[in-house]
Amino acid sequence: MGKSLDPQLRAALASRIRYYNDLGIYDFYRRPGQTMEAASVGAEHATLPVVISSPAKSAVTESTSKVPVATLHTIREDIGECTRCRLHKLGRKQIVFGVGNPRAQLMFIGEAPGADEDEQGEPFVGRAGQLLNNMITNGMGLRREDVYIANIIKCRPPNNRTPERDECETCSPFLMRQIEVIRPKVIVALGSIAAKTLLAINASMSELRGRWYEFRGTKLAVTYHPAFLLRDPRQKKAAWKDLQMVMKELGLPIPARNTD
Ligand code: URA
Repeated sequence: MGKSLDPQLRAALASRIRYYNDLGIYDFYRRPGQTMEAASVGAEHATLPVVISSPAKSAVTESTSKVPVATLHTIREDIGECTRCRLHKLGRKQIVFGVGNPRAQLMFIGEAPGADEDEQGEPFVGRAGQLLNNMITNGMGLRREDVYIANIIKCRPPNNRTPERDECETCSPFLMRQIEVIRPKVIVALGSIAAKTLLAINASMSELRGRWYEFRGTKLAVTYHPAFLLRDPRQKKAAWKDLQMVMKELGLPIPARNTD
């Protein structure tokens, strides 16, 4: 079976199947008219049994309803010692997966790990992280361990440069899977890279913040990145407004307070 399949096509199909596996999609269905070779090539590479049947539905539509309930642990395992983009050879020390309550109602998404995060393997542990902690605890009355914190990409870009578009595209499917598992009620995108990557909108922060977006069935708000707030503390007032909007949505009491 599959002996006559062109080796290049075989490799391309195998790579496509690995990509779908990374997205958490494991079942594939043969469309009427599709050759058995094309349908069966994935069997060697799929991590779960491949189901070959012949409904006339698109493979993706059909299989997403059958995605096994993944856990964050499975997703971390799927990432492995990732070499999918150039960052693995540009000085990354470790993958920074994400941290917090797997059942959090609130999820913060930043841009990329910095030096401290790369060192410790946890997002937002440096100066920007201290301010984020402050926003979560003193601002919102929550604990860091109540929420979930992750980044668009999981490896530190050299010299903290802005992540390249292809790095975001390669890495963000894992974040999408984390979101799917956690199913937060609200996502807060921290800064323009997170906002623009998630929403696929090219707009300034002042245009992006202060309103709700629908993101894959979840409400999403945008606010300033804590590192930006450290550079321009005058914007803390606006960030506090954004957090209040989020707190209202989550039914959290809003104290009368200052913005530090
Ligand atoms: N900045 C980010 O965007 N993420 C981190 O984890 C740390 C700093």
